[in-house]
Amino acid sequence: MITNTQLEYRGNQFPSAIKSFEQTINNLFFTTENNVVLCVTVLRDSLLRFRFNTEGVFGNDFSYAIDEECVHGYNKLEVEEDNYKYIITTNKVQCILNKADLRVGIYDLDGNPILEDELGFHWEENYEYGGNIVKMSKVTVDGESFFGLGDKATHFNLKGKRVSNWNTDEYAYGVDRDPLYKTVPFYVGLRRGVSYGIFFDNTFRTYFDFCQERRNVSSFWADGGEMNYYFLYGPAMDSVVSVYTELTGKPELPPLWALGYHQCKWSYYPEAKVRDVTSKFRELQIPCDAIYLDIDYMDGFRCFTWNKTYFPDPKKMVSDLNEEGFKTVVIIDPGIKVDPEYDVYQQALENDYFCHRADGPYMRGKVWPGRCYFPDFTNPQVRDWWVDLYKELIEDIGVKGVWNDMNEPAVMEVPTKTFPLDVRHDYDGNPCSHRKAHNIYGMQMARATYEGVKKFAYPKRPFIITRAAYSGAQRFTSFWTGDNVASWEHLWLATVQVQRMCISGMSFAGTDIGGFAEQPTGELYARWIQLGVFHPFCRTHSSGDHGEQEPWSFDEDVLNITRKYIELRYTLLPYLYTAFWKYSDKGEPILKPLVYFDQEDTQTHYRTDEFVFGRQILVCPILEFNVQGRRMYMPRGKWYNFWTDEVVTGGRELWVEAPLHIIPIFIKEGAMIPRYPVQQYVGEKKIEELVMDVYYKLGEEKSVVYEDGQDGYDYTKGRYSLMNFKLIGKKDELLLKQHYEGMFETSYDDIVFRLHGLPFEIEKVFINNEEISLESLIVESGNALKVNKIFTDLRIIGKK
Ligand code: NOJ
Repeated sequence: MITNTQLEYRGNQFPSAIKSFEQTINNLFFTTENNVVLCVTVLRDSLLRFRFNTEGVFGNDFSYAIDEECVHGYNKLEVEEDNYKYIITTNKVQCILNKADLRVGIYDLDGNPILEDELGFHWEENYEYGGNIVKMSKVTVDGESFFGLGDKATHFNLKGKRVSNWNTDEYAYGVDRDPLYKTVPFYVGLRRGVSYGIFFDNTFRTYFDFCQERRNVSSFWADGGEMNYYFLYGPAMDSVVSVYTELTGKPELPPLWALGYHQCKWSYYPEAKVRDVTSKFRELQIPCDAIYLDIDYMDGFRCFTWNKTYFPDPKKMVSDLNEEGFKTVVIIDPGIKVDPEYDVYQQALENDYFCHRADGPYMRGKVWPGRCYFPDFTNPQVRDWWVDLYKELIEDIGVKGVWNDMNEPAVMEVPTKTFPLDVRHDYDGNPCSHRKAHNIYGMQMARATYEGVKKFAYPKRPFIITRAAYSGAQRFTSFWTGDNVASWEHLWLATVQVQRMCISGMSFAGTDIGGFAEQPTGELYARWIQLGVFHPFCRTHSSGDHGEQEPWSFDEDVLNITRKYIELRYTLLPYLYTAFWKYSDKGEPILKPLVYFDQEDTQTHYRTDEFVFGRQILVCPILEFNVQGRRMYMPRGKWYNFWTDEVVTGGRELWVEAPLHIIPIFIKEGAMIPRYPVQQYVGEKKIEELVMDVYYKLGEEKSVVYEDGQDGYDYTKGRYSLMNFKLIGKKDELLLKQHYEGMFETSYDDIVFRLHGLPFEIEKVFINNEEISLESLIVESGNALKVNKIFTDLRIIGKK
């Protein structure tokens, strides 16, 4: 039996004393008397890898998670030795290895502990499958907190929890249900104000215990494979998360339309229904960019086919929808129907692309089409074949995005809900069983889908969404949190889940707005859309068994609220796109949980609801029914109430008003927030001017606006526009400085600066040191100034 507890098993084995040390450039090998080898690799001054082997030799070093393009390099690497220890020193940390037992401690340069081994590396022989159950335990201190781990339906702070990773189809999961659909074996520890990260890159079933088993111990272990983990030193949480995201890969920019609103249901069919839904959006003037086709568009659920009764001319429909600004996204599942007449099945069979059981038969399982075989997406040839299957859908029919579902992989009617563990996989030339390949199966499917859609959509950008994932999947795809429920509890989960995904490298994430299972009340739907428009991925989806979930399925009030918030999202698109660019460029999460925003303020360590959208907009969802307001924690600093412009000082809890049409939103003082006009879909209107909401501050604040062609790859060749603003507020003056980069010509010439909270009446304005008549600039009855976008210095002077 495989133990799932760290200590209870007495067969644990431990490394003995170090007998030799060898260095090859940045790899340091320490070998013990009982033949354990630890390879420490210094990748950056604050990024170290620890890889252990119990047999004296390492196997092939291969990972699906690590991005080969991640830049490495350090400024210092010194190894010293005394009678008791080895000391590895970089420019940021010291790592001390105990000669007697190979235990490791990591310290800052002043000698303060960051993370120390408790038992350290140990293992248990796995008699059933071979290899070892590999384990690690670390000392934790009182007050230490833990965050991350991808998608977990539990409290945001993982202290006191034990979680595991095994991608699982978990319909209508509840709070604390674990594991769910994704595996991200990465966490951030926050200890005495200092953040560090651990990425345990092991695709077997993994476990993490954060002081649940023992109060001052955290541990992680896996059912097989290597003890192979990366240590990342902050001390700020943002650098831990960014470095993790760089290590496992940053995404390309999505097409801007993918950040619009998406409408989905299981299922919209036939074609007339799809057209009804899309026309209704236009008729009611509710912005929407994407419409989804769930499994019923296919012929008997056969992937890459169409049900010609429901959809007689898919190309025409997709093109008509496109004319109206709707991008069509279709679902593709991994299960291929066993049907000798079906060409996708025939091709896979002929080329031996399906997974086999250990003794030879095909892996057979029931999914929507009935009996299916499953492509081995861990085989590069299979992925290449899968890429080309997208030609017709994307190039010929004009579908713009693909939705990969059921790729945990999910199998029906078996108790384990997935493949048996003996199923064989290629694992890119490192053959293995499903024990090792399970958690990366869905990621490799999404990767092949991404490559397929990209190939045939080029020079446009692809859009992919997946349910199952492993660390690094963010390079290829966006995510949703699977089959949630229309309940208030799930609305709370939604805010926690998406924030957690964001600090786990997977920012392009959202939930099924309104809930997938069961039926939301109008009030619940309204509260959910208010939150959902601040999630990087924004889609309403429902199982369809419980009634309608389009914005007009509720009453007039809810319809108006829905429209108002979707419109708000569309006006904030340049702000959201800029946040996405920072994610794509630097690995910065799009949503920032309060602890990430201000880790030094211990009040933030256990907050779950409030978060910062981008860098400057604080959002606090309403998660209870029939309330007119709530208490929330306002992070330190000064914030403008978005609705009233009232300024509040943070660092405290306070009551905020929130009748049904209001979600509390606050803007960081000094922020400059770019806005577009409301559009029914991205690209509907030419942007004639950019509005910037400017929130006065006595002091300085920086803001950025990134724009480009909104699709295509010209941005990679420098055709983007990056406006770097610095606001400097004084008692009777406001100075806005701009530094411009890039070669993209935006469609507008002017920026309208809407001034909030100005403590003086404007007397004069200077643009690049030249006085300009105030009357020629003033718009919107005096509250705003319209200025040509090309300026470096805009000085607004108050009356004395
Ligand atoms: C399960 C997915 O989670 C859900 O979103 C989808 O609608 C159904 N499968 C049917 O395809």
